[in-house]
Amino acid sequence: MTATRIDGKSFAAGLRERIASHVASLKADHGLVPGLAVVIVGEDPASQVYVRNKAKQTEEVGMASFKHELPADTSEADLLALIDKLNNDPAVHGILVQMPVPDQINPKAVINAIEPAKDVDCFTPVNVGKLTIGDPAPVSCTPLGCLMLLRDSLGDLTGKHAVIIGRSNLVGKPMAQLLLRDNCTVTIAHSRTADLPGVCRQADIVVAAVGRAEMVKGDWIKPGATVIDVGINRIDAPERGEGKTRLVGDVAFEEASEKAAAITPVPGGVGPMTIACLLANTVTAMCLANGIEPPRDLTA
Ligand code: GUN
Repeated sequence: MTATRIDGKSFAAGLRERIASHVASLKADHGLVPGLAVVIVGEDPASQVYVRNKAKQTEEVGMASFKHELPADTSEADLLALIDKLNNDPAVHGILVQMPVPDQINPKAVINAIEPAKDVDCFTPVNVGKLTIGDPAPVSCTPLGCLMLLRDSLGDLTGKHAVIIGRSNLVGKPMAQLLLRDNCTVTIAHSRTADLPGVCRQADIVVAAVGRAEMVKGDWIKPGATVIDVGINRIDAPERGEGKTRLVGDVAFEEASEKAAAITPVPGGVGPMTIACLLANTVTAMCLANGIEPPRDLTA
């Protein structure tokens, strides 16, 4: 079997088009523009690239982008003061503080300071709790993107056995909650799971989110399974020339493609979905803040 490629890049482009169309209607009908504030502290090059892309895509769909670039020696108190200002700014409907933050700042203090209604990352304990009990709340962007791709690829997920490899707060745990909501039987596996390949071979759906390059091998995949690869790992690529590198996922793509029915590539799979879902969460947050029914095609 050669797996179908799940084209996250094209799905995300379609989602951004839907977002742009909702943004235009909200402006025309209500005179409202969704606003996303992105805060970055310090000069980590990877974080700077993410933040630049977030701001660019926010503007491309017609939303307002508020970028705050703070020096690496910013104090926790100054960052909390900025968050307080953004919490109280009616033009800001979503707030994202790019992680990681420098050592002098406690990330938990930062997350706890964000108004849950504006927490478009779904990092605050209030929103994590709501996700767990099934109350409406922003949904973590990467797991939401994975869920959208799975629904698009498989339709109804009821009864599927999903094995999530990785137990992070950012991906593994919220992914499990979303798949449970969609009536999957969910296993969260991790580095200490006994017979991880054997557990993985039971899966109709594999979500790999461990951050280890090509760890999931072809013979871990049940024939006909759907594989979602959240990993983005940079590895040496001497075949491309001296000092060259390339991006790979947590799944050995070629091997797994021989077994799976469908698989996300890296790059071009889950990655592009994350920012599109962030924009979708911001539109939803703006609607809820203004008593407007949020568009149904943007949320889980
Ligand atoms: N750093 C890496 N990924 C993320 C993310 O999804 N949200 C935030 N706030 N920071 C990140």
